[in-house]
Amino acid sequence: MIKSRLNIFGHISKFCTSEIHPDVSLFQRKGEGEVDTVLITGTTSGIGAAFAEKFARERNNLVLVSRSKAKLQRQQAELQSRYQVSVECISCDLAENGATELIANKARELGLSVDVLINNAGFNETGYFTDTRLSEELDMIQVHIKVLTALTKLFLPGMIERGYGRILNVGSTGAYMPCPCDTVYAATKAYVLSFSNGLYQELKGTGVTVTCLCPGATKTLFASKANIENTLLFKLFVMQPEDVASIGYKSLMKGRRSTTAGLYNKLLVYFSKLLPISVISPIVQWMFKE
Ligand SMILES: NC(=O)c1ccc[n+]([C@@H]2O[C@H](COP(=O)([O-])OP(=O)(O)OC[C@H]3O[C@@H](n4cnc5c(N)ncnc54)[C@H](OP(=O)(O)O)[C@@H]3O)[C@@H](O)[C@H]2O)c1
Repeated sequence: MIKSRLNIFGHISKFCTSEIHPDVSLFQRKGEGEVDTVLITGTTSGIGAAFAEKFARERNNLVLVSRSKAKLQRQQAELQSRYQVSVECISCDLAENGATELIANKARELGLSVDVLINNAGFNETGYFTDTRLSEELDMIQVHIKVLTALTKLFLPGMIERGYGRILNVGSTGAYMPCPCDTVYAATKAYVLSFSNGLYQELKGTGVTVTCLCPGATKTLFASKANIENTLLFKLFVMQPEDVASIGYKSLMKGRRSTTAGLYNKLLVYFSKLLPISVISPIVQWMFKE
């Protein structure tokens, strides 16, 4: 009985964690003594901060991108002194036009060649679509879709030329299902997942991989900023950002196409693929209730 249960979980886990890239042997570190330069967006809190800590602990050089200059400078000083790695900061609002150009100019000025790109910055605007703020939703489309695409376009050619690189795009379990009361957010994350899946295939044989990490409810500032920390979704099963970043890191290093963080989220994604939309939609809507 226990064995058959384990088999079911193994099956679900495999179902929600995609194949490993066939060229994975190419994706070891650049060479003895060489370190990667890792650019991460949205590092001042939550999953992005956990990624910055993880990559610094693994002795990579970092480029941190967020809005708050003061927080970035604090993070830079802490990571540099704790791990003796080089940390550059780019303070910019990714929702503003020209954000990618600003990052491109700064990268050129600093002579950076980015080996690992982590497109993590994001936020949420929840509620009935008739009540939500259009300005926030358009900013979300800008940050989750336009900037993520533009940064990939900016750094990918260099990676291909060097025959080495990794990209991780942070999606969400919401990418797999319609999310009433979170419609625009889920649609942007569906783009992230679809974009990453397609690009993964295109890049086979280049030495570069793209991984989409899909977290579920995670204990960061994300829920309180979107006023959803008291919903069932954030009361039932919440993961720690360090655990989510660690799962993302391992999947990225293995060159996986996509991964869903945590068993509960894997189950959710598994059943969202099996059940019809008419069943899954009201369940998701119920999870947004307080
Ligand atoms: N937490 C969850 O339950 C959950 C679930 C699924 C997916 N995710 C995804 O995980 C990613 C990270 O979110 P989190 O949970 O770690 O949230 P968080 O704690 O609120 O962190 C978000 C980070 O993104 C940055 N950011 C937000 N808007 C920005 C902008 N316009 N320009 C530049 N930086 C911006 C923030 O920094 P500044 O405010 O300083 O700029 C912050 O560093 C997001 O893509 C989110 O959609 C989260």
